[in-house]
Amino acid sequence: MKVLFRADEIAERVKVLGREISSYYRGRDLMVIGVLKGSFMFLSDLVRQIDVPVQLDFVRLSSYMNASEPQGTVKIILDIQSDIKDRDVLIVDDILDTGQSMLAFRRHLEEKAACSVRVCTLLDKTCRRRVQIQPDFYGFRIEDGFVVGYGLDYAEQYRALPDIYVLDT
Ligand code: IMP
Ligand code: MG
Repeated sequence: MKVLFRADEIAERVKVLGREISSYYRGRDLMVIGVLKGSFMFLSDLVRQIDVPVQLDFVRLSSYMNASEPQGTVKIILDIQSDIKDRDVLIVDDILDTGQSMLAFRRHLEEKAACSVRVCTLLDKTCRRRVQIQPDFYGFRIEDGFVVGYGLDYAEQYRALPDIYVLDT
């Protein structure tokens, strides 16, 4: 395992990201929706750097691994409990990879008549994108390679590590 981003670099970047998000939503209330489990550490650091009023909710998603399932759909294991009608919603995730689950989930929220739905991801693996989606806010762009730590897992391991690593393959 090789360190990709140290905890202090992440903290610096998250601080800047929090300021960027705060000025974007200045004067408004923000509904932050965290995608479990991967975003838990990023989310808890990020919301402490946002200085507009924040309400929180969480979802758990599972992308269909089975090729026979329809493309562009996402299985919602745990949905939000909040009413997001006319709200400004920011989805926070750990990493945007192919983008398929995020595209489908964003559509799901837009159908609930939110005022706006934006996407914030800590890591953006642009080269892996298979559908048309860009994060509105992101922490770092990265090359292909499997990353763990700071919430990200490999088979439920490494989530609690404070730094981000690339796994040797
Ligand atoms: P996709 O964008 O629909 O392909 O799926 C994104 C999800 O896959 C992320 O939210 C992560 O949970 C997981 N994922 C993708 N790449 C990685 C990685 O490098 N490390 C850990 N999890 C990953
Ligand atoms: Mg995830």
